[in-house]
Amino acid sequence: MDISVVGAGYVGLVTAVGLASIGHNLVCIDIDEDRVDLINRAESPFYEKGLDEALRTCVREKANLRASWDYDEIINTKVTYICVNTCSDSGENADFSHVRQSARRIGETLAGKEGYHIVVMKSSVVPGTTEEIIAPLLEQYSGKRVGKDLGVAVNPEFLQEGKALHCFLNSDRIVVGEYDRRSGSFVEEIYNGFRAPVLRTGMRTAEMIKFASNAFLATRISFINEIGNLCKKLGIDVYEVADGMGLDPRIGRAFLNAGIGFGGSCLPKDLEALLKQYEKMGEKSAVLSAVAQANKSQPEKIMEIVGRRLGKLSDKKIAVLGMAFKPDTDDIRNAPAIETVRQLLHEGARVRVYDPKAMQKAREIFSEDIQYGDGVADTIEDCDCVLILTEWDEFKDENLYSGKIVIDGRRALHPEKARRICQSYEGVCW
Ligand code: UGA
Repeated sequence: MDISVVGAGYVGLVTAVGLASIGHNLVCIDIDEDRVDLINRAESPFYEKGLDEALRTCVREKANLRASWDYDEIINTKVTYICVNTCSDSGENADFSHVRQSARRIGETLAGKEGYHIVVMKSSVVPGTTEEIIAPLLEQYSGKRVGKDLGVAVNPEFLQEGKALHCFLNSDRIVVGEYDRRSGSFVEEIYNGFRAPVLRTGMRTAEMIKFASNAFLATRISFINEIGNLCKKLGIDVYEVADGMGLDPRIGRAFLNAGIGFGGSCLPKDLEALLKQYEKMGEKSAVLSAVAQANKSQPEKIMEIVGRRLGKLSDKKIAVLGMAFKPDTDDIRNAPAIETVRQLLHEGARVRVYDPKAMQKAREIFSEDIQYGDGVADTIEDCDCVLILTEWDEFKDENLYSGKIVIDGRRALHPEKARRICQSYEGVCW
C-alpha cells in the first residue's frame, strides 16, 4: 500500500521503516529539510538501535522509503499517518499545536485529491482530540466529509525507545480506534501478517488505552521506587522483593526495577497531559498525582547519598556515567541525569560526564559547564565519586570501579560483587 507519514521524528521514522520493512511503499513528510536529506541518504537523524541498518535496506535496497518536505506527496498515497510531536514550541505539553497544524495542512492537500483517503492519528493525543479537533479540521480544510470520502482512525504506538523497531515488528497488540467500520478495516489491513491481536474500538477509547498504559507503567515504577526506599532502610533488597512479587502472574516482573525514576519524552509527558485532562473534566487523580510527585523527588535520593559520602561538594570531582534516560538511545529528554548534574553544579562540584551515545545532546544543554570524558576509565580517573545514572552495558563491569566510591542509580552493578571491588558501593534504594 502507498502510505505517507507526516513527521519524521522518533515515532514517524520508526513507523515508516517498520511499514516499509513489511512491504509497503512509504514517503515521510517533514518540514525540516536537513532531516529529509539525511533520510534520503539512508542516515537516521537520531540514534536508535538497529534503525540505521533497516533504513539503509529500505532506502537503498528495496527503494520503498523516501522523504520529502512537500505535502503534495500525500495525494499519491492512500493513507496518511500523523506522527508529529505533541509538545508546542514553548515546550507546553498537551498543547497539540503541531498536530493541529499538520491536520490543517493534510486537509488543504487532500482538497486536491479525488477518491477516498484515510488519516491515521499515531501521535499520542488526549482522549477526544481526534474526534473533536482533528476530524473537524480535516473536513474544514479538505472540503470532504469524514465517513464519506475521508476516513479517520487512531492507531496508538507502544514503542519503547532503544528497541522501537523490534517493538513495531513484534507488536503485542494493534489497537485501532475507528471513526467508522470502513476506516478501521483499512487500518487493520495495513497490519495484515502481524500475529498480534487486533483490538478495534472507538477513537477516544484507543486514545485512552495509550494514556492509561503509560500511566500504569509510570505507576509501577513510582510504586517500586517507594517500596525500594523503605526496603533500603530495613536492609531488604528491593530487587529480590520485585522478583518475588513478579512470580504472581497477576503482577508480573516487568517495570518493577527500582532506581532514580522514569524519564524520557513519553511517561512524564503523558502523565502530565492526563492530569490536565482530569483537571479539565473537574476530576482528580490522587494516584497519578502521587506517581508524578514521587518521580520528581526520587533523583534527590542520589544527592542525599552524595552529600552523606562526600560532605560539601565544592570542588569535589564527580564522574557521571550515563546521560540518556535509558540505555540504547541518545535521548536525554527528562532524563533524571540532567537534574542531578544541575544540582551537582549548583553545589559547586566539578562534573565530568560520559554517555556512549548522548554526549552531543548533553553538550547542547551543559556546553562548557562540565567536562566530557572519553570512555569509562577516562571519565572516572581521579574522581571523588562515580554516579551511574543509565544502565548501559559498558558500565556493567564491576572491575572498572576498583577502589572507587560508586553510587548506582540503576542497579547497573551487582551489589555484592561491587561491594568487594569498590571502596564503597551504594544503590539509590538498595
Ligand atoms: C514508554 C512506554 O514503555 C512505551 O510502551 C510507549 O510506547 C512509549 O513510552 C511512548 O509513549 O511512546 P519509553 O519512553 O521508550 O517507552 O521508555 P520506557 O522503557 O518505558 O522507560 C521509561 C523510563 O522508565 C526510563 O527512564 C526507564 O529507565 C524507567 N524505568 C523503566 C524504570 O525506572 N524502571 C523500570 O522497571 C522500567
